[in-house]
This record gives sequence, C-alpha cells and structure tokens, in this order.
Amino acid sequence: MNDILILGIESSCDETAAAVVRNGREMLSNVINSQIDIHKKYGGVVPEIASRCHIEVINDVIDEALQNAGVTMEEITAIAVTYGPGLVGALLVGVATAKALSFALKKPLVPVHHIKGHICANYVAHPELEPPFVCLVASGGHSHIVYAEDFIRYEIMGMTRDDAAGEAFDKIARILGLGYPGGPKIDALAKEGDPHRVEFPRVKMAGDSLDFSFSGVKTAVINHVHNLEQKGEDYNRADIAASFQNAVTDALCEHTIEAARRKKADRIVLAGGVASNSALRAKMSEMAGAEGISVLYPPPVLCTDNAVMIAAAGYYEYISGTRADMSLNAVPSLPLE
Ligand code: KG4
Ligand code: ZN
Repeated sequence: MNDILILGIESSCDETAAAVVRNGREMLSNVINSQIDIHKKYGGVVPEIASRCHIEVINDVIDEALQNAGVTMEEITAIAVTYGPGLVGALLVGVATAKALSFALKKPLVPVHHIKGHICANYVAHPELEPPFVCLVASGGHSHIVYAEDFIRYEIMGMTRDDAAGEAFDKIARILGLGYPGGPKIDALAKEGDPHRVEFPRVKMAGDSLDFSFSGVKTAVINHVHNLEQKGEDYNRADIAASFQNAVTDALCEHTIEAARRKKADRIVLAGGVASNSALRAKMSEMAGAEGISVLYPPPVLCTDNAVMIAAAGYYEYISGTRADMSLNAVPSLPLE
C-alpha cells in the first residue's frame, strides 16, 4: 500500500500551523507560529490582529512544514484544513490557502472539524490507540465529553453550559495578575499552593447530566479575591490558583469517569490545551486507575493548537471519503455532530 501523506493546515485562533503526517500516525513535521507574544499585551486574542498575522506567515509556515518533512508538495496525497469552529477571519486564511493549493495542484481537499482534530492528536501520540473510547476535550473555546465511536464519528455526552475550562483558567490568571495565556501559569503556580485552602463550589447538574458549568467557580474566585483586597488582607496567590484548579479538575475528572462508566469504556483520552494541565493528568490517572480505566494524553505540544492533529484527523476523513470542493467556507460555530 502506498503511503498517504496529509498536509494539515490550522488557523482557527492564534496559531498558524502546518504539518505533514504519514498514514494518520506518523508526524513528519510540525510547524507552529504562535501569536501569543502579540496578543498577550491585550490580555487575550484580538480577532482582527489574528487574521492579519495568519496572512503574513501562512505560506512560509506551509513551506517549512514540507521542508522539515522532506517532501515536496507534489508528493502530498491530500490537504486537510480546519474549517471550524473558530474565529471566522482566522479560519478563512487557512481555508482560502488550502483551497488555492488544492485547485492549483489538483490535490483532494479535506475539511476538518477543529475539535475532532484535538482528539486525533492522540492517534499520533499513541500509535496503538483505536476507538472506541471516552474523550475529554478541554480547551480555550470548548469543554466536551465525547464518545469516539470510530475514527470519524463522535457522540457528545456532555459539554459546558457556559465558559470553557481554558477560558476560566485564563480569566482567573488575569485576576491573579499572571498574564495570558493563563492555563500554564496557574498550573505552575498551583504547584506551590494548598489546593484545599479554599473550597470553591463544584456545580452539580440536575438529573444525570454530564454537562459542566465553570462560571460559578470563576465568580466565586473573583469575589473571594475582591473581598480580601477590599479588607486589605494579604492572600497567597498560589493557594488561590491551587484551590481553583482543584475545583475545575474535580468536575472534569468526575464527569469524564462517569461517562466512561456509562459506556463501560476501559480507556479515557484527554485532548485540547487544558489536557496539558499537570494536576488534571495526575488526578484523572489516579481516579480512573482506581476503577481499572487507563488514561492517555498527548505531549503538551500536541494538546494546544497544532496542525499535526488536523493532518491526523484529515487522514481518517480522507480514507472515509470526506472531500470538500471550492465552495468550502469557514464555519465559526461548526457543530460536532
Ligand atoms: O486547544 P487550545 O490551544 O486552543 C483552543 O482550541 O482553544 O487551548 C488553549 C487553552 C487556553 O485557555 C490555555 O490557558 C489552556 O488551553 N491551557 C492550559 C494549560 N496549557 C494551556 N490550561 C490549564 N493548564 C495548562 N497547563
Ligand atoms: Zn484548539
């Protein structure tokens, strides 16, 4: 069988990324041009600036991905691109570039859902991994529990009713004066704090819902900090970071493990930027391990936005026959199902 080489392109938020993956599993290159340094002075991603930055670098990022992989554009089997969800202007840059390459070089164009991409990062990180499994996808824009039925079909078992987990991390980091993006900073600071110093609320949904809600814990942390500041009391930022992280990871772990129980799954997979959180990884592994459920996650560089995950998801879509034509458009709120 001939190798299938997929060029993946990702531009849904603040990373311009391109990568080449062989047969859905083997990463040949992984180029990520992050705009974090540009956006951090605004405390978050500015959509208009993100689109402009993508346009400036996308061609070079793609050239570098091909070069690092040691393949020419002619040798690529198909081009996979994120077409949603994400920022519309940012997505459009990747979609337009992929369409132009596909048209000019007569290569198949494969549309990829960004969240499915996050999940598929695990196929590269763990070449033996096969569906079905339960997956927690937690990023700056999404918090979903999904059941991967096969390589391209997913059932949503739970999702956030308000903020995404990463969004809550970013907001609390800002309150604590840690800067953007907040997740890695809270993760690091929490290591020096007491996770039980403050018991922030854990929201339990009515009935048997596996949905999340993080706005309550976010508001509780903000109120707690403001109260202390108004009273002029000193507080330990590491304790707050650790206590907040403890509340969020409790909810993520409990709901995901309950989802695995319902599906009688013996494997939980983590994906998305928040999956690089060290407390989440440790807690999920310990809690799930106690029930005989194993936990897998990608290395941090494949948790946050990248194009390896898009190429991996693109491979499975490609062999299933998924194709787009020149009418492909960016879909900012593309549903998972
Ligand atoms: O997947 P991603 O790169 O972008 C989206 O698709 O949203 O996720 C970025 C999010 C940010 O909110 C960031 O703060 C969070 O992932 N994040 C983390 C960690 N590393 C990144 N959150 C908690 N702990 C981390 N170590
Ligand atoms: Zn993402």
